[in-house]
Amino acid sequence: MAQETYNYQVVRQFAIMTIVWGVVGMTVGVFIAAQLAWPWLNFDIPYLTFSRLRPLHTNAVIFAFGGSALFATSYYVVQRTCHARLFSDFLATLTFWGWQAVIVLAAITLPLGITQSKEYAELEWPIDLLITVVWVAYAIVFFGTIVKRKTPHIYVANWFYAAFILTIAMLHIFNNLAIPVSWFKSYSAYAGVQDAMVQWWYGHNAVGFFLTAGFLGMMYYFVPKQANRPVYSYRLSIVHFWALIFTYIWAGPHHLHYTALPDWTQSLGMAMSLILLAPSWGGMINGIMTLSGAWEKLRSDPILRFLIVSISFYGMSTFEGPMMAIKTVNALSHYTDWTIGHVHSGALGWVAMISMGSLYYLIPRIVGRELYSLKLVEVHFWTATIGVVLYISAMWVSGIMQGLMWRAVNPDGTLTYSFVESVQAMHPYYVTRFLGGSFFLFGMLVMAYNIFRTVTHDKRVAINDAIPSPAH
Ligand code: HEM
Ligand code: HEM
Repeated sequence: MAQETYNYQVVRQFAIMTIVWGVVGMTVGVFIAAQLAWPWLNFDIPYLTFSRLRPLHTNAVIFAFGGSALFATSYYVVQRTCHARLFSDFLATLTFWGWQAVIVLAAITLPLGITQSKEYAELEWPIDLLITVVWVAYAIVFFGTIVKRKTPHIYVANWFYAAFILTIAMLHIFNNLAIPVSWFKSYSAYAGVQDAMVQWWYGHNAVGFFLTAGFLGMMYYFVPKQANRPVYSYRLSIVHFWALIFTYIWAGPHHLHYTALPDWTQSLGMAMSLILLAPSWGGMINGIMTLSGAWEKLRSDPILRFLIVSISFYGMSTFEGPMMAIKTVNALSHYTDWTIGHVHSGALGWVAMISMGSLYYLIPRIVGRELYSLKLVEVHFWTATIGVVLYISAMWVSGIMQGLMWRAVNPDGTLTYSFVESVQAMHPYYVTRFLGGSFFLFGMLVMAYNIFRTVTHDKRVAINDAIPSPAH
């Protein structure tokens, strides 16, 4: 009797597209970084203006690159840990082509200026409907696989993936409730400050569940696998899970300090953000301590280094975030490049680097070939690390400087600096950020080359995709 095997086809498709969209999204990132340093780079062409390319960048890196990485790894992890093939091959294929269609539609509509003007939810209503169809299919495939599992318990990585899938469904639907007036234009169902509140409830939990919970799922599977050690504490992972998902959902108002939002709501958002430090660091400790007793592996294994450094950046950005949520700190940081630095220490340091480490582990196993070059992984690791450090340190300096220049007043109460003086002062830091971004992008290109060579050379290894028979 032929043995049943896992569905690796869809994992392969999403894994390869993660790299393709990573290169595209980061190239746009480097280009808009260059525009901020040298504004003439928009060439007076409306489709190339910063305002249109910026949402193209954020959508490409978060939903195309990050989203494909989440699809690829969740489909792999849920099958391996449940000892079951995906619930439906047809629906899994539909999620792949549907998600790629969403990305292509985003890449067309955003440069044309078609937008709902909600950050990270710019796409107009017909595309939102398509996203909903893809997401429902995703949920059926994921939860269907959990239901038909042959293992007694549900491994913790799947809990995080499950929370990510469910919460994103809820956020997407409620934030995008809108009244269409044409194919390309709709108006939000909410008005005024309620609209802002719902938007940042969505926005912050896009961070909490898209950019965090799903990637924690990756951490809980790929770090123990690559380190060849069990998770440091299974009990801590359960506490981590419940504390994190309970707390995240309340923190959104820290994006709306000193606005028309009622004061108590802002303070609640601030308090919940401070509490969020505890579960975030609990998770970070669990990830890093998984290496206890095996630290020497970091010396020789660049893939593990990617994973562990990403967790350190996770710890750093989840310390910085609660600090920025304190109202008096936010009075300085809001509107400045400090926020951009915080975003990219999370986005490059955590999200991108954990994805890269996970893919270096995953791809050889699903294509049945040895990784072409570990040396190139090493090169990638260093260029990426140097890139993040340059990016975020430039933004910290420029952000704090911006905040201080804007609030400086003379003894007679007039402003010490005009706005344009602050813009001028930013120039060297914008050039540094451009350099950091270029390093990071270069690393991504090295990865693309390494993976291309991996899938085309012929040092084959057997693919272990046979589903183990149930334990008796
Ligand atoms: C080569 C790498 C990258 C470069 C050079 C880059 C550059 C930029 C630039 C110049 C901006 C606009 C900043 C501004 O408005 O002042 C930006 C915004 C943003 N980028 Fe990136 N980026 C990169 C990678 C990424 C990745 C991998 C992610 C996510 C996984 C990401 C997520 C974001 C987000 C969320 C924003 C909006 C930030 C905000 O509104 O506060 N970026 N990026
Ligand atoms: C404990 C965890 C965290 C807390 C409490 C937190 C808090 C904050 C605060 C206070 C802001 C500035 C809001 C403003 O002034 O407008 C912010 C912005 C942001 N954070 Fe975090 N952060 C956390 C972790 C993270 C992580 C891990 C990531 C990325 C992976 C991230 C991504 C972002 C993004 C994208 C923004 C910019 C939103 C925008 O204005 O467009 N955060 N965060």
